Amino acid sequence: MNWLSMVAAASGEATDIKGGTFWMPASASTTAPEVDFVFYFIFAISAFFFALIIGLTLLFVIRYRARPGHHEQPSPSHNLALELTWSIIPSILVLVMFWYGFKTFMDQYNPPANAYEVLVTAQKWNWSFEYPNGYIDKDLHVPLGRPVRLVLSSQDVIHSFFVPAFRVKKDVVPGRYNKVWFEATKPGTYTVFCTEYCGTGHSDMLAHVIVHPPEEFEAWLEKAANFLDTLPPAEAGRMLFEQRGCGQCHSLDGSPRVGPSFKGLWGRTEKFTDGSEITADENYIRESIVNPQAKVVAGFEPVMPTYAGRLKDKEITYIIEYIKSLDKEQP
Ligand code: CUA
Repeated sequence: MNWLSMVAAASGEATDIKGGTFWMPASASTTAPEVDFVFYFIFAISAFFFALIIGLTLLFVIRYRARPGHHEQPSPSHNLALELTWSIIPSILVLVMFWYGFKTFMDQYNPPANAYEVLVTAQKWNWSFEYPNGYIDKDLHVPLGRPVRLVLSSQDVIHSFFVPAFRVKKDVVPGRYNKVWFEATKPGTYTVFCTEYCGTGHSDMLAHVIVHPPEEFEAWLEKAANFLDTLPPAEAGRMLFEQRGCGQCHSLDGSPRVGPSFKGLWGRTEKFTDGSEITADENYIRESIVNPQAKVVAGFEPVMPTYAGRLKDKEITYIIEYIKSLDKEQP
């Protein structure tokens, strides 16, 4: 059990806890042993010198303390052999640390040519993962034992993609693509954290990495991509609401979060910051999704990012149907 496992446990995650050590979380990628080796190597050297220096300091403090009958001795000028020793040995150690660190960094930087590519988008405050067939999910599903290359981009501010179990961490910066890769070595579910403070919802900006056995991965992707079309529209809308993280900002119980609640939204008269009003209908909801700054509800900040291009027209229709159905459920 270590602090990352405790965070994961607090957020309802279970699988990261198994297999960790006091210092490190569970290890589930090909690069994890390399990263851990660098950590333990530097840690062991640091611990050894810490003990040596503090030990000698204490010894000298006691042995050469001022006491009756002892007089201060003149300092010797210098000792060439000693000075060379304490310069050359640390220099070699630092170079060895650099070598291991640099090698591991370069290994993480350069993905193998056959890597499976997933596009990762960060925005306040959720992750979305787009697969080669166009399917988008709120979690990262990957095949076991195959290199996965992530192309990371941000819709708004700087986030940082962090999977402790894979020892993978990369900033996600607006206006550029960052890349990172890993190869999962154990099936299971692991936690993705945002590790760059990005505003109110930063600590809730979590996702899962689900590692599937390779045969199951293809089957999962096929099924996930076609799943929405098999559902009634309102039900498909509810899935999208959950998958795309709408609920991070829009509650279903009437309480305001970062944005207005979806409860009772359908047919409600909304007042906007410019003083105008509208009765919520299909076109208003659609506009609020693709161009959220066009009409900002009074009392809220204009912080919603656009979903233009990130939700297909059909998906927007499903979400509208879901919002309608919420109204019907009420007495
Ligand atoms: Cu995104 Cu912190």
